[in-house]
Amino acid sequence: MLKANSIHKSYGQLQILKGVDLEVQQGEIVTIVGASGAGKSSLLNILGTLDRPDSGQLFINNIELSKLSNKNLSDFRNREIGFIFQFHHLLAEFTAVENVCIPAFIAGTSRSDAERKATELLELLGLKDRINHKPNELSGGEQQRVAVARALINNPALIFADEPSGNLDSVNALELHELFIKLRNDFNQTFVIVTHNEDLANLSDRTVLMKDGLIVQ
Ligand SMILES: Nc1ncnc2c1ncn2[C@@H]1O[C@H](COP(=O)(O)OP(=O)(O)OP(=O)(O)O)[C@@H](O)[C@H]1O
Ligand SMILES: [Mg+2]
Repeated sequence: MLKANSIHKSYGQLQILKGVDLEVQQGEIVTIVGASGAGKSSLLNILGTLDRPDSGQLFINNIELSKLSNKNLSDFRNREIGFIFQFHHLLAEFTAVENVCIPAFIAGTSRSDAERKATELLELLGLKDRINHKPNELSGGEQQRVAVARALINNPALIFADEPSGNLDSVNALELHELFIKLRNDFNQTFVIVTHNEDLANLSDRTVLMKDGLIVQ
């Protein structure tokens, strides 16, 4: 599903990624671990097409992403990739269901179809009675589950998450991790997750260790 070959990235004189190779199969949950500054977020942003590498190739579903124009790349990202960040980045003025709909609206889905799908997803994630709550009327765990629903709404090929439970207490973190496993088991959803959480790394199918801009294990 994903294949990265010799990804390099520098900021000025600073080499951040020094030739990263990674393959991810459909339905796999891969976690990326490593010390602060190892280059995990930089790599995730490149794999998630938010940033472009200086050199190297990235294929998702056999599409070579460096060949796409910025416009085609943002369409691809909207349809095929979901993101979950450490902080939920929900829009404060919008309700849970409206937040979840936004990527579907960007993809051109009608309001009624988007709202139906968003409501289904929120119900699936245990938020049936919270769909009209705004982010500040939700707990941290609930906010993060809304962010998961938003990541899922366009049926993405891949979900990338950067420290998704970094801001949650241990009970909510465990619930979120179990949700990832359920989405993999029930829908064959593929995940690439950067985490400092050992429990999540242990639950995942495969863990890669980054050190100084390389995958070392
Ligand atoms: N836009 C940028 N300009 C310059 N340097 C950057 C930029 N983004 C990241 N870096 C540097 O790249 C290195 C890797 O950063 P990155 O955010 O990928 O680390 P990380 O492994 O995600 O760390 P953490 O676990 O703390 O989140 C760091 O030394 C950081 O200072
Ligand atoms: Mg990081």
